[in-house]
Amino acid sequence: MTVLAKATTYAIDGVHARRVTVEVDIRRGLPSFCVVGLPDTAVRESRERVRAAMLNEEFEFPQRRITVNLAPADLQKAGPAFDLAIAGALLAASGQIPSDQLDRLALVGELSLDGGLRGVRGSLAIAEAARRDGTTALVLPFDNATEASLVSELAVLPVRRLSDLARACAGEVPPFEADQARAEYAAEGPDLKDMRGHRFSQRALEIAAAGGHNVLFSGPPGCGKTMLARRLPSILPELTGDEALEVTRLQSIAGHAAPRGLACRRPFRAPHHTISAAGLVGGGSVPTPGEVTLATNGVLFLDELAEFSTRTLESLRQPLEDGSVTVTRSQRTHVFPARFMLVAATNPCPCGVGGERCRCTPNEVARYARRLSGPLLDRFDIHCSVERPTASEVEAGPVTCSEEVRVRVGAARAIQAKRLAGTGAHCNGQLDGSQARRILEPVARVRQQLGDAYRRGTLTLRGYDRALRVARTIADLDGHAQIGEAHMAEALAFRVAEGGGEA
Ligand SMILES: Nc1ncnc2c1ncn2[C@@H]1O[C@H](COP(=O)(O)OP(=O)(O)OP(=O)(O)O)[C@@H](O)[C@H]1O
Ligand SMILES: [Mg+2]
Ligand SMILES: [Zn+2]
Repeated sequence: MTVLAKATTYAIDGVHARRVTVEVDIRRGLPSFCVVGLPDTAVRESRERVRAAMLNEEFEFPQRRITVNLAPADLQKAGPAFDLAIAGALLAASGQIPSDQLDRLALVGELSLDGGLRGVRGSLAIAEAARRDGTTALVLPFDNATEASLVSELAVLPVRRLSDLARACAGEVPPFEADQARAEYAAEGPDLKDMRGHRFSQRALEIAAAGGHNVLFSGPPGCGKTMLARRLPSILPELTGDEALEVTRLQSIAGHAAPRGLACRRPFRAPHHTISAAGLVGGGSVPTPGEVTLATNGVLFLDELAEFSTRTLESLRQPLEDGSVTVTRSQRTHVFPARFMLVAATNPCPCGVGGERCRCTPNEVARYARRLSGPLLDRFDIHCSVERPTASEVEAGPVTCSEEVRVRVGAARAIQAKRLAGTGAHCNGQLDGSQARRILEPVARVRQQLGDAYRRGTLTLRGYDRALRVARTIADLDGHAQIGEAHMAEALAFRVAEGGGEA
């Protein structure tokens, strides 16, 4: 005689969730408990947690041959989030909860040995998938309820213990009602008013923020490059509703979601230069998103750019071009979003001083420049050399503050949103080359100015498109419908050819 029962749960698959059916088969024989269907170690260990939790919650643990199958078998199952569904199916198969009631529900959650439930990663993605599949109610740990309830038209039934599952099946757990009032946007974090001097560099930062352009700061040690970059979030516009959902989904899958509901700040990711290529762009046997994906809708900051390994930096080229990363593992291909602003800081040469007072040999400088390949440098729309502020600038106090700049950035972004509606891009920096040439068509005089710079040979074709986009952003900051010659001249001044000469 065998008994079968099923429960529905979800597995994180890349940056989304996929439905998994837990099947339990109980039959006579020597007591055993095995889990099949591509489980990782954490899933196999689920047996011990489920057994202890059931006993501690005063359920009966069947002394039979138990087989748990997780289907589909081709999907790698990772982590402890299947515990609740395995326990649920086991309870139904042993007649301790009604199986017809269980069929209406999807279950996720990690069990602790005493029967309590712990929060899981990716509950927003799980809730979205559950709604897509037409599930009526999702049972999950209390800690995940606020996040899951961001999805409308899905009943979220929060539970604290395994024994609450019986109550959920009996319809005794009321759906979770979140306090959906969005936190007031507060641009906390460091402010531009701390900066002394750097009128030019702060202008570069403002243009970068206004158009979503990649920016590279280069200058001597201690002049304020890291300081500038860390102030970028303080001048970026608030996340839109869709962007906030995407940020929340990604951060939750990576396990560092805001504890309560919707993300309200743009991500600012600053990985150390020892990071691997897989850490940066994503990978692993169960593909997990990397820093570029976590920086989506925000900023990826690479401090000390020349210290990153060449392989790591090369891995950035594709995501920078496409706005997404493709990770292939065991015949499955995942496409992760990777739309971020790249901000980097570097010293101009190994001694860090650069220019006339540089003490490096030409050989050392050349070797250093080679580490930062031409193709990567080409992907920075704005190259800004940061000078040491003069004594009088230091005494003069702040040049501006973040609030003031954020207002101008917001106005420029609003103009772009209107122009780019329907293109899939939100700001000039997200336009690809052909879109840029089509949508940002400048007047003849400006086109000639750009053509001259191209003919001088210091601009690549990518550089040409990038200069065009930056010029458009500068005109947007100015509130001009047409790109003027002054706008283009400023944009071209931010293109520095490999080796340090101006374009
Ligand atoms: N322009 C500035 N205005 C105010 N403080 C500054 C400025 N530049 C540097 N400082 C001070 O010097 C410290 C070092 O600056 P920061 O770390 O930004 O330098 P850096 O250019 O990144 O140097 P490195 O190349 O060594 O990384 C800052 O924490 C700040 O206290
Ligand atoms: Mg620094
Ligand atoms: Zn030097």
